[in-house]
Amino acid sequence: MQKNLVILISGRGSNMEAIVRAAIPGARVAAVIANRPDSAGLAFAESHGIPTAVVDHKLFADRSSFDKALAETIDGFSPDLVVLAGFMRVLTGEFVDHYAGRLINIHPSLLPSFPGLHTHQRALEAGVRVHGATVHYVTADLDCGPIIIQAVVPVSDTDDEKSLSARVLRLEHQIYPQAVRWIVEGRTRIDAGRVKVEGVRTAEEGWTLPPLDEGAGS
Ligand code: GAR
Repeated sequence: MQKNLVILISGRGSNMEAIVRAAIPGARVAAVIANRPDSAGLAFAESHGIPTAVVDHKLFADRSSFDKALAETIDGFSPDLVVLAGFMRVLTGEFVDHYAGRLINIHPSLLPSFPGLHTHQRALEAGVRVHGATVHYVTADLDCGPIIIQAVVPVSDTDDEKSLSARVLRLEHQIYPQAVRWIVEGRTRIDAGRVKVEGVRTAEEGWTLPPLDEGAGS
């Protein structure tokens, strides 16, 4: 049985695109759902024959009614895994509980550093020497939850927000499909708040896939 992935986006959708292009065996992208009707990623999904839906948050009076409508739309596609890919809405505890263990997110920083917005600019201002991205299971707190995979990039003195975000994004496109692949293969489990991946013992095995050179990924 193929596992159904439902991917949520708010804009460009390049991480969604990376997951679609990865064509993960045993998984199919059952739907791409956006909270903004003008999300650019919807066109890519449609051109690949993937069902799309829009649940426009502006049409709802509050967070809770939006999340309820969103969950109804998601559940219409029988999701095994709900993948937040640049989905820029804070979710209610009820929503997160409903998808406990089958809701993942990608965040453009090495969590727990720099949760929230403007991560690259804040990393530069903090003077960190390494920066990166994190894929994690979603729990009730913003940008929190058991970490599945991280990618690290060096920060150079000449970096600005644009160059740093571009370098991180290239790696996001590698680690997000990898995390989804592990989950689809049934290789992840959460043990005392930490994610164990069957067959992956070290961070190096976890994130050095393929080589982390500048040109890798798309
Ligand atoms: C990505 O960098 C993703 O990590 C970030 O938004 C961007 C979406 O790009 N997500 C967050 O900041 C969530 N807190 P994309 O639409 O091209 O995938």
